[in-house]
Amino acid sequence: MTTTPQDVSSSGASSLSERARRHLWMHFTRMSSYADHEVPIITRGEGAYVWDDRGKRYLDGLSGLFVTLVGHGRSELANAAGKQASELAYYPLWSYAHVPAIDLAERLANMAPGDINRVFFTTGGSEAVETAWKMARQYFRLTGEPGRYKVISRDIAYHGTTMGALSVTGLAAIKGPYEPLVPGSIRVPNTNFYRADEHGDDLTRFGQYAADEIERAILREGPDSVAAVFLEPVQNSGGCFPPPPGYFQRVREICDRYGVLLVSDEVICAFGRLGEWFGAQRYDYQPDIITVAKGMTSGYSPLAAMMASDRLIEPFLQGTNSLMHGFTFAGHPVSCAVAMANLDIIESEDLLGHVRRNEGAFRATLEKLCDLPIVGEVRGDGYFYGIELVKDKATKETFDDDESERLLRGFLSGALFDAGLICRCDDRGDPIVQLAPPLICGQEQFDEMEQILRTVLTEAWKRI
Ligand SMILES: Cc1ncc(COP(=O)(O)O)c(C=O)c1O
Repeated sequence: MTTTPQDVSSSGASSLSERARRHLWMHFTRMSSYADHEVPIITRGEGAYVWDDRGKRYLDGLSGLFVTLVGHGRSELANAAGKQASELAYYPLWSYAHVPAIDLAERLANMAPGDINRVFFTTGGSEAVETAWKMARQYFRLTGEPGRYKVISRDIAYHGTTMGALSVTGLAAIKGPYEPLVPGSIRVPNTNFYRADEHGDDLTRFGQYAADEIERAILREGPDSVAAVFLEPVQNSGGCFPPPPGYFQRVREICDRYGVLLVSDEVICAFGRLGEWFGAQRYDYQPDIITVAKGMTSGYSPLAAMMASDRLIEPFLQGTNSLMHGFTFAGHPVSCAVAMANLDIIESEDLLGHVRRNEGAFRATLEKLCDLPIVGEVRGDGYFYGIELVKDKATKETFDDDESERLLRGFLSGALFDAGLICRCDDRGDPIVQLAPPLICGQEQFDEMEQILRTVLTEAWKRI
């Protein structure tokens, strides 16, 4: 059964919620939490705002899920999809090519740093990460180092949900039910300086320490067994940990010393989130592989990719070799056409420059919240910030599991939503609220976020 707008208005919103409860299996969702709550149903979007089925407006402070960079309701992207679907709706990239994929691969190669010139499309970020690990393993087999299969990633980092990507992920809680996972995935510390008291206030030294931990892990595992290190430019999970100065330069040196590939997982950070096309450009390092997804199409159609350097494709260009890997819908013509139109908008509206010009104002507006007793720190870069919540500002004491459960799930998530702000309340590390709005946002939206957060966090503090 499908629903027309008339059904929604005549039969009421609850019937949609009821049907969602009955048939939808929502992702990363405690389905039981909707037993006595309506399922939120978003029906349309325009600019930085979305509306629910009751006509209520919300500021989309998370760009959907770090996706909608150019904002909602852009007819240019809808038209690009329609035009491509009428011309060639589908063709696979399994031994064929099509024009939108060629155009987009070339454009991405021109945008990417250094000699990252080869684009392997996938449909989502997990597949891109999965592809990077598989490709790295095969690359080393083809180049005479078959023992290199392990990967290193950081504590609490999220790299996706498929078995390989989940193995790279550093979140024990979402891995447990699916073990045993893919062997050979190693954890190192992330760059959470707020919780690195032993390093005092020396951020640079802390960065060197965190990078050196990668070297120690490589040596511990045996350099000949390590294929790649997966790092996000700004680590999302845990609440936006930017790299300390010199961190990525040191990691690059370490990777070169031991022949390990550096993968920049830019599923969130690419295409302007940090004010540059790629996070690697923002922090001035050269990866061997970049994984991208989400913002490439602003979500108007699904698309992702693993991008690799010339050196990495080289053995795959020889004789009978091939990467025996692919996805039916990867590099879908409609998605590639949408991505081209999305990149056109980012360029013509100078959204990279807009982020660079406004990120200081965004940060300063959020930092006003630091006068609240519950706000420990505001951190991040570009249009990507985490606000860490604490029980005691002076000691940085955090909430225990029960308190965090009551604070985040019991109050904050619902209260912020009711107040008209969509953002992320997360306690996969210490409790945080995260903001990653569409790149078109300006001071009006920064103020709106600050005001809603101020009201709701003030109320949350009274309830602790
Ligand atoms: C850094 C990173 N890598 C990989 C993924 C997985 O992407 P997807 O959900 O498209 O599979 C995500 C998703 O949020 C991510 O943030």
